[in-house]
Parts: sequence; C-alpha cells; structure tokens
Amino acid sequence: MAQRNDGFTLWLTGLSGAGKTTIALELEQRLLAIGQRIERLDGDTVREGLTRDLGFSKEDRDKNIERVTFVAKLLSRNGVGVVCSFISPYRDARDKARRETTNFIEVFVDTPLEVCIERDVKGLYQKALAGELKQFTGIDDPYEAPEQPELVIRTAGETVQESVDHILAYLERRELIPTATAVTI
Ligand code: ADX
Repeated sequence: MAQRNDGFTLWLTGLSGAGKTTIALELEQRLLAIGQRIERLDGDTVREGLTRDLGFSKEDRDKNIERVTFVAKLLSRNGVGVVCSFISPYRDARDKARRETTNFIEVFVDTPLEVCIERDVKGLYQKALAGELKQFTGIDDPYEAPEQPELVIRTAGETVQESVDHILAYLERRELIPTATAVTI
C-alpha cells in the first residue's frame, strides 16, 4: 500500500511578478506526478471567489490571508499538500498562517523589484508607476520580506525547473513526500 505522507502548507511569498504562480503550477504538476494529494491556492484565483469582496488595504490583505489560512489549515491537517501563492506582504499574517497550519514551509520568491518591473507580465507596474493604480506592493505599498524563510528562491538566476527541484528536494528532506529513490522502486 502506498505510504501516506503528512500534509503540508507550502507558502510562496514575494512581489507581484516574482514568479510565484509559475513555480506553483510546475510544482503542482510534479507533485501530482508522484501521486501526492495536492491543492493549489493562488492570489489571482482566490480573489475571484473566496475573497472577491476584498481590496488591497492592509486590513483587506490581512483578511485575504486569514481566509486562505483557514482553508489551508483544514486541508493540510487532513494529509493534503497545499501550495499557496500570495504576495502576502505582511509578516504577521504569514506568521499566523505558520502557527495555524500543518507543516508550514515559507518560501521567499526573492525576485528584485527591478526585475518584476522589467517583466511586468500583467502591465500593472506600469499603471502603478504612472499613479493609476494605488496601493501597489513595492511601489506605494509595503512588502515585508521573510526574516527566516525555510527556502529562498532566486528566480532571476535559475529556471523554473531548477526552482521547483529545490522545493522538491526540501520536501523530500523533510519526509513530506517520498524520496526520489522510493518513487522508482
Ligand atoms: S495579497 O497582498 O493579498 O497577498 P494577492 O496575492 O492575493 O495579494 O493578490 C495579488 C494580485 O492582485 C497581483 O498579482 C495582481 O495581479 C493583483 N493586484 C491588483 N491590485 C494590486 C495591488 N494594489 N497590489 C498588489 N497586487 C494587486
């Protein structure tokens, strides 16, 4: 019988355009491929449903993360690997998620602001810099970088594949997923 691993909450935090969603999508595929029970919660999609009533004030961002934390808590304590990708700019809110969920792993997607502005995948930095979009993280709203994240991913210097390899290796070391050798037996 397949070994049932503990659940976990893998939390990707970083600026808009840092690469959180891209990494989360690839990670999800790789985890599904090894039969891990997985759920992905992402800022852009969660904000279309569960938190569509919320904006980007500190209060609303805190509520956003609080609700996501609640969902991640229920799933992770029931053996599901939850991959969360949110800017989650406030340290307190992330620390609360750490306290309330099972096997919380903070992954800082550390992409410099200049690189995110350069990429500007959604064109939002351009709007924020022009003053058309207010309270935009990194421009006129704060981002509190993690002080002791379990992992730091520097997307500027590596491929998505390499970033995901680092995360999978970490999950293996923590025995939260089967080791690569175990999978091939
Ligand atoms: S969080 O701050 O509450 O964690 P979340 O990750 O859910 O944010 O949503 C961020 C996404 O909302 C961004 O990727 C971007 O597409 C969009 N967005 C719209 N307005 C803002 C803003 N003022 N600041 C940051 N992101 C914004």
